[in-house]
Amino acid sequence: MRLENKLFQGKTLAILSGGGDTPAINSSIESIRNRASLLGFKVYGILRGWKGLLGDGDVVDLTNQPYDGYYGGTALRSSRTNPFPSKKNPESRVPQVLRNLERYKIDVLVTIGGDDTNGAAKRLFETEGIPVIGFPKTIDNDLRTRTMHNYNGRDIEAVLCPGFPSAARSIMEFAANLKTTAESHSRIIVLEVMGRDAGWLTGAATFGGAKLGLVPEFEVTKARKEVFLETVKEAYMNSKKKCLVIPVSEGIRWYDEKTGKVDVVYASSEVDEYGHPRFGGVSGIVASEISNKLGLEARAQISGYYARSGHCRHYDRKLTSTLADKIVDLLLREEYGQMPVMTKITSHVELEEFNTTSIDMGTVGNKSLSDDYYDISRFSFTPVYADFLSKILDKPTFEEFRYDFPVVIP
Ligand code: F6P
Repeated sequence: MRLENKLFQGKTLAILSGGGDTPAINSSIESIRNRASLLGFKVYGILRGWKGLLGDGDVVDLTNQPYDGYYGGTALRSSRTNPFPSKKNPESRVPQVLRNLERYKIDVLVTIGGDDTNGAAKRLFETEGIPVIGFPKTIDNDLRTRTMHNYNGRDIEAVLCPGFPSAARSIMEFAANLKTTAESHSRIIVLEVMGRDAGWLTGAATFGGAKLGLVPEFEVTKARKEVFLETVKEAYMNSKKKCLVIPVSEGIRWYDEKTGKVDVVYASSEVDEYGHPRFGGVSGIVASEISNKLGLEARAQISGYYARSGHCRHYDRKLTSTLADKIVDLLLREEYGQMPVMTKITSHVELEEFNTTSIDMGTVGNKSLSDDYYDISRFSFTPVYADFLSKILDKPTFEEFRYDFPVVIP
């Protein structure tokens, strides 16, 4: 038998996932593991994000193990551990991380995460020379990937992060399902959607038939609130079945009459190691103001973790494997401190390696919705946003029961 002479034989690549989970992390892990194995790497998984590199380390061998990339969440688990000093934890744990990288003989580290996890990885690359490759992930879709969306010949900077396509489909379906109960009671349902700083995911509800929408990018001041309530009334009166589903991001800044301030609604005063508080509950406030000020029946529904839950959808499966193909390229060139991204927003058939590139992890940061995608004067997502979403979700056709029974006059 001939021994294979693989390029990276004897080298070890380790993968970790940090921050909020998404339905596409296991698919990312499986795709990266498969490609790295083919190149000859031994592939380890680090458990619970950066936490798995503290103390004595918590590391598993993924090399020849069965792996289910369709299963949602992350089998490597996750945490919001920050190895660098933070307000919550002022002591640097970087020496522990370095010791464990050495101890487990890890040659390359791939970090699946958002701005926080990949930001810490980039700092390790810059300050300690650790070979890292970032891999994007977030259902909020606000991690800057510099992916261009061509709309009528014009290039608009959009974002495409694994996890978003699956979560967007769930939010779209959630909104579509809510419509039948809203319709039965002639109600307005305010649907709260995850998104601390950006409304990309909130917009997905419009594909499920939701109208209007509030996003964190544009604050709702006292004056804007009055216009919003007027717009809601008008939309409700114009709706054929006298019902509305209005999506709002958890991170919207809403004028509070009691305090006279525009602020977010916190679910808890606690912050994580990256300084993020937990938001939640603003839909209840918006719904009760609609009821009180407009005299229309309104209810709140928090979609919360539902968007993050469940299996990896088809688009995400293809997206993660395409971005993993780009990782092969980065490994072969030994280009570290980089993150693979798609160059343009495409339908799933065009998710191919030739449409990928890599960006410097130092330039990652956040990207919110621009006014190309959200029309502040109408409190609604624009046709440009609908075009962006139609590439990722394939515009669904929801059945509509167009009843209009003749009235019986006795
Ligand atoms: O990962 C981002 C996110 O999905 C935000 O939209 C949300 O505020 C946050 O996660 C909540 O995550 P957790 O409760 O798990 O910390």
